[in-house]
Amino acid sequence: MKEMFTVQEKDMETLAQKVVHLLYTRETSKAKVVLLDGDLGSGKTTFTKELASLIGVDKDIVNSPTFILKKEYDAEHAVFKKLIHIDAYRFNTPQEGRVLRIEDDLGESDTIVAIEWPTKMKYIKPDLEIFFTIVDDDTREVTLSYEDLYKDIKYEEK
Ligand SMILES: Nc1ncnc2c1ncn2[C@@H]1O[C@H](COP(=O)(O)OP(=O)(O)O)[C@@H](O)[C@H]1O
Ligand SMILES: [Mg+2]
Repeated sequence: MKEMFTVQEKDMETLAQKVVHLLYTRETSKAKVVLLDGDLGSGKTTFTKELASLIGVDKDIVNSPTFILKKEYDAEHAVFKKLIHIDAYRFNTPQEGRVLRIEDDLGESDTIVAIEWPTKMKYIKPDLEIFFTIVDDDTREVTLSYEDLYKDIKYEEK
């Protein structure tokens, strides 16, 4: 499914709400992976701050992890207890991303993994992809792309 929104910065919270809700309804035993793609300044970190805030992480401590590559925050949310924020900008090949060793993180169902510059970590399977495009100084076009999040629910036959 693809959904497109034209947003101002103040709308980012609503968008993050929608994303948290979608991830919340996702029935998997794995971490929920959100890929954030788009040019520099298109809003990937701004979005991540709003998402962080919604799951109980102080958004003022969330910033672009460009130099640190990976940051972890404890969350306070009914379902999500941890946010991992990755910025893969500095990697040259998808293989370099493997140094982050996020395999263990990906096994934790109470974790959201948000990845900026995901083309550098292509081997990770996302639950949801977000594409940000700059329209003008204040406006961004945002496309959410995800499969039907309920598809993994197995109904037991009686
Ligand atoms: N509609 C909007 N959505 C998100 N950010 C916006 C918007 N309009 C202006 N901005 C500004 O654009 C910049 C986006 O930066 P940032 O989120 O760090 O981008 P990225 O992480 O994609 O490089 C911020 O300075 C923010 O204030
Ligand atoms: Mg950023």
